[in-house]
Order: sequence, then C-alpha cells, then structure tokens
Amino acid sequence: MSQAVAQARTVGSSLFSSDAVKKAVDTIVDEVAAASAKLTGVRGPIEGLEQPYEDSLKKLGEQRGRPLYYPYVGSGAGNGFYVELADGSVKIDMVGGIGYTPLGHAHPELIRAAVTASMEDNLKHGHLQATGALFEFSDKLLTLAQRKSKLAHIFVSAGGALANENAIKICYQKHAPASRVIAFSHCFMGRTVTMAQIGDAAGNRQGVPLSTQVDYMDFWNAAEADRVGQQAHIDAACRKLQEYIDRYPRQHACFIFELVQGEGGFVTAPREYFVALMELCRKNSIAVWADEIQSFNRTTELFAFEMLDLGEYIDVLTVGKATQACATLYTADYNPKPSLLSGTFTGATPEFAVGKRVLEILEASDLYGPGGMAAKHHKAFRDQVGALKAKHRDWFPDLPCGIAGGVGGMMRFTPFGGDKEKVGKATKVLFEEGLVTFYNGHGPYHIRFLPPLAVMSLEDWPTVFEVVERGLARVAAG
Ligand SMILES: Cc1ncc(COP(=O)(O)O)c(C=O)c1O
Repeated sequence: MSQAVAQARTVGSSLFSSDAVKKAVDTIVDEVAAASAKLTGVRGPIEGLEQPYEDSLKKLGEQRGRPLYYPYVGSGAGNGFYVELADGSVKIDMVGGIGYTPLGHAHPELIRAAVTASMEDNLKHGHLQATGALFEFSDKLLTLAQRKSKLAHIFVSAGGALANENAIKICYQKHAPASRVIAFSHCFMGRTVTMAQIGDAAGNRQGVPLSTQVDYMDFWNAAEADRVGQQAHIDAACRKLQEYIDRYPRQHACFIFELVQGEGGFVTAPREYFVALMELCRKNSIAVWADEIQSFNRTTELFAFEMLDLGEYIDVLTVGKATQACATLYTADYNPKPSLLSGTFTGATPEFAVGKRVLEILEASDLYGPGGMAAKHHKAFRDQVGALKAKHRDWFPDLPCGIAGGVGGMMRFTPFGGDKEKVGKATKVLFEEGLVTFYNGHGPYHIRFLPPLAVMSLEDWPTVFEVVERGLARVAAG
C-alpha cells in the first residue's frame, strides 16, 4: 500500500476509529455486561409489574387481532440463555425466537458490533445504495459457504422467505419454461404466497390461491429403511422421483432440499439418500436447492451441506435466522439476468455488522467437527431426556421415531406420545415455569429446542431439565 493510500482517511473511517467513539462504545458494552450479570437464574415477575404487563399484552393482542403465542415482551436485557421479560421475570431461552440467537442474549461482542454500526449515516441499506457493512457481511458468508461448494454469488435479503423467493426465481429463470417444483412432504419454506404453497402444512395456505405446482417426495424414513434396507429405501425414493420426471418431462425447475427438516420435526437422512436424488436432478437439469434457513450453524458443521458432504451438488443455497440478514447463494451457472432480483431494502447496518461477527465467532468456536461441542451438547440433551424417561416412564410412551431426536443444536423430545394437544399445552406450561421452547412435527408433535450452544456449557443441561421436569409434571397431572 502506498504511503498516500495508507494515510488516506475518509470522514467515515476517522469517525469509526476515533478514540472518543471507542471509549463511548466500551462504556456502553461494559454497562450492558454489568446489567446482564444480574440475570443468573429463572425467576417470576417483579411485584407491581404484573398488572401493567398484563394490560400491555391485552392491548397488543387486540391490535394484532389475536393474542401472542406466549405472553412474551422482552425487557431488552438478557445474559446468555437467560432473558428478562418486561414484567421482570427471567426465563431460560431454548428457542431464540425460532433460532436467530445462536450466541444467546446480550453477547458483548454483538452489542459492540450493533452499537458501533448504529452510528452510520442511515439505519437501512438498499440494493441501490449501501455501505461497506453489507459487502463485508456478504463476503464473510460467501467465503464460508465456498469452503466446500461451487457457490459463486450471494444476494442479501431482509428475511428467510424473501431469500427463498429469490432462490425460486433464479431456478425458474434458469430452467424456463419449467414451472413445477419438487419438495419434501412436511417441509417449511416461509409465509409468502409462493412459499406458503410449497410448505407442506394445510393451515399455512388456507385461502391462498394455488398457483405453484408442487410434487411432494416423502422424506427419509429411518424406520422404513430399517425394515426394507437402506438401499431399497433409496431405490424407492429414486423411482418416485423418476415417476414425477417422466410424468412432467423438463417441467421441474428445482428440487428443494431441507437437509434437516425444521418444522417437520428435525429429521435428516444419510448422505447416500441425498446423493442419489441429487444425481437424478443433475441428470435431468433440475436445480438442487438447499434451504438451510433453520439448519445453518446448528448441525455438526457450520452448514448442513458440509456435514453431509454435499457441497458439489448444491446449485442454490438459502441461509437466514442466525445470520441476522438472510441470503441466497448460487453457482456461476445460476447467476440470473439483471433485474430479476432487487428490492428497496437489503437490511439494516447493525444486522450486517452483527451477522458478520456471529459468523466470525461461530467459525472460531469449538462447536464443529466429529469431536465438536455441538455433538457433545446433543448427547448431553439426549442423556437428560433418557434420564427423565427413566424417572417418569408414563410421560414417554415409545414411538417409532424415538422420544428424542435431531442433530447438534436442533433438538427435539417427544412426551405424551406426541399428542398435539398435550405437547402444545406443555410448551405453554414450560413457559410459565421459566423455559421458552416451541413445538414442531406434524404428528407426532415434539418439543423443540434451538439453544445457543456457543454460549452454553454441558453443565447447563441439568438446569434446563429441572424446569422441563416441573412443567411436564404439571401437564401429566392434568
Ligand atoms: C427451513 C426454513 N425455510 C424458510 C423459513 C422462513 O424464514 P423467515 O421466517 O425468516 O421468513 C424458515 C423459518 O422458520 C425455515 O425454517
């Protein structure tokens, strides 16, 4: 770098590197850390705050036209997996708003990134005008995805469903006039008009006119594979796919692979199964699209496609949630023509700064790989479920899918035979007891955890399961 370039300083870079700014940011980060340190255990509401909290929830429900699923309004303070609500109660957060808090609440590094980024001239970025924050985020995410794939480009968007909308347009354009898509039964893709049609839940598309032609493939079924043998199960899936291809020759634009089904109940499949289907797609000019909006960062590798060693097959990838800003990535072959993708907003500066920092921290963490902490946490979780079952056999009738499942930081357990009503009730009772979870599966129904593994230790699991035991005892007692 020449001396002139080294000395060149924009007003912006001088501002962000000024000592006064750094000191002010340090002060804020330290204040947040001191406040967070007060949140160290589950507790009930603070006296005097209950009624105003109830009143605000009532108003909120009236304005939305329905109550919130949980009576949850955060106070803005948290500490790792602890989060404080506006009534002063403190909960253990095991689901992070469905998975967007991989580093828990009030992580000092993320507070620092967010505060610093919020000083930029504008909060929001667009496709027409952006600052370096957007490009640094994109570069980090793309570089990580490229370690084991042929993905060449990235396009950022403000939500997961929008990233999926961009992905489907890319696939349609590349394979025009093919207008059909292939997806797995029980998949979830978001709630835009198109994604609600592809996602396999009747309630989510009630009243939505059906304009997207979807052919559903059954997902891998471990019990069936055990019964007939793995290869026979794979062959049957390939026959089904070939049947669709023969029925609608050259009419499929893409096959959407949720490599670990999220809403569907945290199920995955052996590599050989995906390879066989992806090879068939490749042979028939059908785009292979992996939707990793939920699974990203949560398997035993950063990307599920890395865990399953499928990078060479992926044409299009969508990522979101933990990344804060969402994105569609694609190979050079799938780079669309100008004007197919755009929109006013890409996201806000703090999203990009925090997203980039999340990626750096996850990359440097000890979560991944065969001996990584993600696998160890998963084992600790299953051990806790096993111990609970040993103590309360009647809460856990046997199920073909087992009473615990998932991979890495996608954890589910299934009390009460997966009964919809009881599992739904259990989530609410657990919330009252101090544990934020959610459900998944389409029958059996499961209790779902998307915990912030990067800020947890193995010793935390007994604390979590003390609350689980208290809550399930209440449900079991009716
Ligand atoms: C696999 C998958 N795809 C897409 C989405 C949609 O993302 P968003 O809710 O950010 O629109 C989700 C959200 O849960 C998801 O799990």
